[in-house]
Amino acid sequence: MRTSDLDQEYTKMQRIPSLVSLCVRAVAMEIIDDGHFEGVIELPDELLDSLMMNLPPLALQGLHEHYVCSSRSFHSKSVNGGNKRQRFDAKYEGFDGVWKALFKERWPENFKRVELINKVDGAGSSVDHENDWQQLYWETHLQNCLDEAAERAMLPAFDGPYWGIVNICILNSIGYSATKADSCSKLRTLWFHCNKFGRYARCLRLSNVLCIPEISGLLVTSNLRAMVFRSIKCKSHVDGVCDLLRQNRDTLKSLEFVHCRFSSTSFSQICSCIFLEAEPHGIKSFSIKSSSVADGKKSSLPADFVSFLSSGRSLESIHLSDTSIGSKCAKWILDTLLKSSLNLITLEISDNDIRGWLSKVDRRPGECSSLLGPKLSLKSLSILNLRGCNLCQDDAEDLNYVLIHMPNLTSLDLSDNPLEDEGIRSLIPYFVKAFEKASPISDVYLQNCSLSCKGVTEFLESSQTLREPLNSLSVAENNLSSSVAAPLAIFLGSPGVKALNIEAIGLEPLGFQELEKKMPKDVPLVRINMSKNRGGSDCASFISKLIMQAPDLVVVDAGYNFILPEALMTVHDALNLSTRKLRRLDLTGNIRLSHSVHAFKLLEYHVHGKPIVIIPSGLPSSVPYDDDP
Ligand SMILES: *[C@@H]1O[C@H](CO)[C@@H](O)[C@H](O)[C@H]1NC(C)=O
Ligand SMILES: *[C@@H]1O[C@H](CO)[C@@H](O)[C@H](O)[C@H]1NC(C)=O
Ligand SMILES: *[C@@H]1O[C@H](CO)[C@@H](O)[C@H](O)[C@H]1NC(C)=O
Ligand SMILES: *[C@@H]1O[C@H](CO)[C@@H](O)[C@H](O)[C@H]1NC(C)=O
Ligand SMILES: *[C@@H]1O[C@H](CO)[C@@H](O)[C@H](O)[C@H]1NC(C)=O
Repeated sequence: MRTSDLDQEYTKMQRIPSLVSLCVRAVAMEIIDDGHFEGVIELPDELLDSLMMNLPPLALQGLHEHYVCSSRSFHSKSVNGGNKRQRFDAKYEGFDGVWKALFKERWPENFKRVELINKVDGAGSSVDHENDWQQLYWETHLQNCLDEAAERAMLPAFDGPYWGIVNICILNSIGYSATKADSCSKLRTLWFHCNKFGRYARCLRLSNVLCIPEISGLLVTSNLRAMVFRSIKCKSHVDGVCDLLRQNRDTLKSLEFVHCRFSSTSFSQICSCIFLEAEPHGIKSFSIKSSSVADGKKSSLPADFVSFLSSGRSLESIHLSDTSIGSKCAKWILDTLLKSSLNLITLEISDNDIRGWLSKVDRRPGECSSLLGPKLSLKSLSILNLRGCNLCQDDAEDLNYVLIHMPNLTSLDLSDNPLEDEGIRSLIPYFVKAFEKASPISDVYLQNCSLSCKGVTEFLESSQTLREPLNSLSVAENNLSSSVAAPLAIFLGSPGVKALNIEAIGLEPLGFQELEKKMPKDVPLVRINMSKNRGGSDCASFISKLIMQAPDLVVVDAGYNFILPEALMTVHDALNLSTRKLRRLDLTGNIRLSHSVHAFKLLEYHVHGKPIVIIPSGLPSSVPYDDDP
């Protein structure tokens, strides 16, 4: 035999399947073709388990459905049905495990994300968060089918009716061979997949090309809780959106529009199909992002939007980000919300130029002084985000008079606004009062607000007088220079300060020396970002001291600080001596550390199998740090 023949023989042998897998495949085919499970259910546990684990998704679905059916009729027939019932219950969990494995295999990235969300949510604390992997599997499958259909419909050569054909790769991944799928054309239609798996869909993203009249018919079995619509621009797409909204009105909790452009008529239309007279809607979260609403530059939005807002007893968060609304409209939204007495928790109006939006607020002294009236308030509002709104000193002063109507506010984000020192100074009276409230303000973000050392020092000093200290503060990307180090060092010692972002504030070596010298013995910090401060060796030395004196420290970002290899000796010693909680010390962007033996030695410190220290890779950084102003 020639070698190539041998090779062929060998591959043939490899392809020869085991008897069990042959049987499994035969059974699978039968299940797919005719839905014959009667014998299967009676198989001994071991065989049934092995069958379940080897079935392709579509066959497993058939078996699972059959199982649910027979278990239901069984449950109804015998109330205390001993062994057999236990077997049924155990199998339920078995199915979930197999679905989980199938999900992980097909969408490893999504799997990680779902697991992460679970961790953050405290794993199954409520029924809502418990995963039903079968549901997640088919929901994600359907999303894949829809995304693929949308992609095809957007191709220039798209010629209409073929958008409803499901890609052969997607079919293969649920267990069809190409030839078989071709012979069974029904299975290749989007209609089939929507019809069969639509009931598993809870959250879907739809782009404009899918918002056609047929779509509500395709998704008629779905009970959607969350919908994201992309690029809705013309009237016919708005009609499609409205059909879906009406159809899912009873279950819908979260609604988001991205990259859309609404005329006032179409925005009205959308609001009005959620709002029904005398029937409050159940939407909790409403977002519009990177979109435009035609009336945004005028002084109000359509009346139907008011109806939508005021009929929303369950509305908890509103996000209007980069929506090209102007100052008058922003004020109008705020007034509307104040009058609606909602139970709102989060309000975001960001990346909109709304300078001067509060300029008509009455500034007479006294509690009930505002134009907004004494009785109106957003009692439950806890997070206010006004990032990137071009707010200046005057706006900050006006904000003082509005924030008193938000007694429950705990987080305020004013980053990326040119407030300057005067702006922050005029907010200090509010902060001083706010720190004394029943639920004191705890998170303040003042990143990139054109602040100088003077303004920040005054703010830090005012926070020292508080009963309840700040939990989280960012003053990053303000030119504060090394003179801010002394007040910062005192601030580090305030009990309760957990997160501090001082990225790119121009500390330089002198600032780090000062911080190290004046830092208190016991620092409660959990995370700190001190990157881009040109700290050099003094930065490394400060890190070492921090590791020793901050027992709860978990994350340190110290990238782009011109740290030299020799300076890492102290960090090495600190890591060796500390038995602390540190999980990550990020030193990327300190170019001199690549290829350095000193840096390499730091990699020996691990937590849960991962190195604590992140050093720059040998390659030159692809994004050079532009250190020049
Ligand atoms: C204030 O916020 C807390 C959570 O931060 C919440 O538990 C409480 O119910 C809120 N108060 C009001 C009046 O909504
Ligand atoms: C900083 O804020 C200004 C507006 O005050 C904005 O134009 C700029 O893009 C912001 N810089 C960064 C890096 O976000
Ligand atoms: C930062 O402020 C200092 C004075 O405090 C000034 O000399 C320096 O030019 C400023 N740097 C930038 C980038 O504005
Ligand atoms: C903290 O620093 C790192 C660089 O070390 C940077 O990439 C990151 O964006 C910073 N985090 C925040 C929240 O600014
Ligand atoms: C860590 O510290 C111990 C003494 O506490 C010392 O014996 C050991 O050599 C140090 N390890 C390293 C890698 O420096």
